[in-house]
Amino acid sequence: MQPTDTTAVLVTRPRAGFVETPFVRGLTERALAYVAAGYPVHLRGPSGSGKTTLAMHVANRIGRPMMLICGDDEFGSSDLVGGHYGYRRRKVIDNFVHTVLKTEEDVAQRWVDNRLTVACREGLTLVYDEFTRSRPEANNVLLSVLEERVLVLPARRNGSSYLKVHPDFVAIFTSNPEDYAGVHKTQDALRDRMVTIDLDYFDRETEVAITQSRSGVPLEDAERIVDLVRACRAAGVSEFSPTVRSCTVIAKVLALRQARAAAGVLVFEQTCLDVLAAEAGLSSKAGKKAQQRRRDAILSLIRQHCPADIDGVVISLARMA
Ligand SMILES: Nc1ncnc2c1ncn2[C@@H]1O[C@H](COP(=O)(O)OP(=O)(O)OP(=O)(O)O)[C@@H](O)[C@H]1O
Ligand SMILES: [Mg+2]
Repeated sequence: MQPTDTTAVLVTRPRAGFVETPFVRGLTERALAYVAAGYPVHLRGPSGSGKTTLAMHVANRIGRPMMLICGDDEFGSSDLVGGHYGYRRRKVIDNFVHTVLKTEEDVAQRWVDNRLTVACREGLTLVYDEFTRSRPEANNVLLSVLEERVLVLPARRNGSSYLKVHPDFVAIFTSNPEDYAGVHKTQDALRDRMVTIDLDYFDRETEVAITQSRSGVPLEDAERIVDLVRACRAAGVSEFSPTVRSCTVIAKVLALRQARAAAGVLVFEQTCLDVLAAEAGLSSKAGKKAQQRRRDAILSLIRQHCPADIDGVVISLARMA
């Protein structure tokens, strides 16, 4: 792969709609303190726990330009550091004495820096999102970067196999827990070089604030949706543990269709079932039964957490099956 167009540097700026509750602020300050003390930070948590958003926010607070890498099982170390790509051809035509024409040609391999090298060279903030999706061998190059602050290059680059890491270089990593599909186990040596902050799902206040900020629904509706999703999560009724993303999807559809979060409102109930009751094994009889059980459980949680007594609700006569 030719990497020249993959090393664009990102200029960070505060994200529109970013929610900063005491929960988020606490995590940000913890991460910034480790960075200030000179340690790479590793944000680890389940899908939807806000790792990527927090990593970007911390990078923004550091205030340096950012380089983003997303972990990939196909990566080799050259996808991080760069390598020899193609050839540079040089031709000198010497016609100084015009009765004599001398032509000299030489062909040299062309080294191209990839993102880790650019970040180390320029002192950027590296956000390596989902770094455990890359195979451990690909990430080995990080060991000396984080400890000795030297990038060891696999092939000679501009006459040197070493690059001194710029003092402003900072690394922030994110990962899903190791039992997630497609995630590799982190090498102990690499994990030992970073400070890991284990994230769980957001607290209720933050989920409500994110849901409201992302959709624009009234506070009361955001609270009802979040309470419903949290109850589904606690009861384990959905195929996958629903996250704040589920809250946001339901809330955005309600805002779009001008409906309220109340039992008996067809649009609301239907959207909740679509988002929360999906079932992968539907082709079998057992799968169909499992989905019916999910739907019943979710409708019951809707009646419990989103009662019909909310201002301005027009209850549809048709009840959900
Ligand atoms: N502080 C915040 N303010 C506003 N929205 C947020 C905030 N934190 C997270 N979100 C939103 O919550 C959702 C999940 O966050 P994010 O993508 O960062 O999670 P993640 O842990 O990286 O998930 P995954 O493991 O699936 O990549 C996103 O839609 C994101 O925009
Ligand atoms: Mg993410």
